[in-house]
Amino acid sequence: MKVVLGPASAALAEKVAELSNCEKVVVAYKTFPDGENYIRLEGNVQDEHVAIVQTTCAPQDSRLMQLAFIAAAAKRNKARKVTAVVPYLAYARQDKIFLDGENISIETVTQMLKAAGVDELVTVNIHAEGALDLFPFPAKNLSAIPLLAEHFAQKGYRKAFALAPDKGAMYIAQQAQQVLGGEAGHLEKQRDRYTGQTSQTCKGLNVKDKVVIIFDDIISTGGTIVGAAEILRAEGAAKIFAACVHPLLIGDAERRILAAGVEEIVGTDSVPSRNSKVSLAPLIANALKALESG
Ligand code: R5P
Repeated sequence: MKVVLGPASAALAEKVAELSNCEKVVVAYKTFPDGENYIRLEGNVQDEHVAIVQTTCAPQDSRLMQLAFIAAAAKRNKARKVTAVVPYLAYARQDKIFLDGENISIETVTQMLKAAGVDELVTVNIHAEGALDLFPFPAKNLSAIPLLAEHFAQKGYRKAFALAPDKGAMYIAQQAQQVLGGEAGHLEKQRDRYTGQTSQTCKGLNVKDKVVIIFDDIISTGGTIVGAAEILRAEGAAKIFAACVHPLLIGDAERRILAAGVEEIVGTDSVPSRNSKVSLAPLIANALKALESG
């Protein structure tokens, strides 16, 4: 297998290649003055199984095009098999029709990737695993929650309370609890489908004087974490942390989260940022090893 260093995830891809003892393929890339993308593989991929590591956080569409171009270039240059490793898969949150007239965006995105040459896909903590059933190729969803929880355990927060900001994320809190060995629970969250506004409530949880780590798949605007932190402070939590796999942290999300009383935000390098304190490299390297041998 060869690991292709997608421009959006070059540092992560380098680590994956090192951990998997695979040769790297560098991608030359540029953006034309009108915004169009250009890529060129700087390595031989003939008869190889290639793993393209390329996340698709903002600018999503540009990164998706780069990924599609790299996959197509790999096939054009006679790669045997193309695995797209996309830690943050853009458009995964639109995986069903919520309102009449909408599109199932993630279905369209994966169909485009297949048409370009992708044979299988590996992603990390996709928003809803059921979306994988819509994909036109085999796909694997990895969880980075144990790695995030281990980070906190190493920092001395074993037994911390693992909190999910809504019921749907309770499985995430439970995965963290398995590593941390403390309690787990969830808040209740309601979302208005038209305005996007959310509200949260806390029922039957005792967090008084406890260290609480809020675990979520994504932090986007930060509204969910800010709301959760405000509730936790009102309930007397001793310390509050926020952990997520995909730290999108749009606009002033980071500032607002810290202002709401969160001590620290810990994310992964799924979305490269200064909050990316945990690397997905070992998780991805293991998954690629399993795919190769399986
Ligand atoms: C939603 O269900 C997700 O798990 C996240 O809680 C959500 O995407 C976070 O968005 P925001 O940071 O904008 O509240």
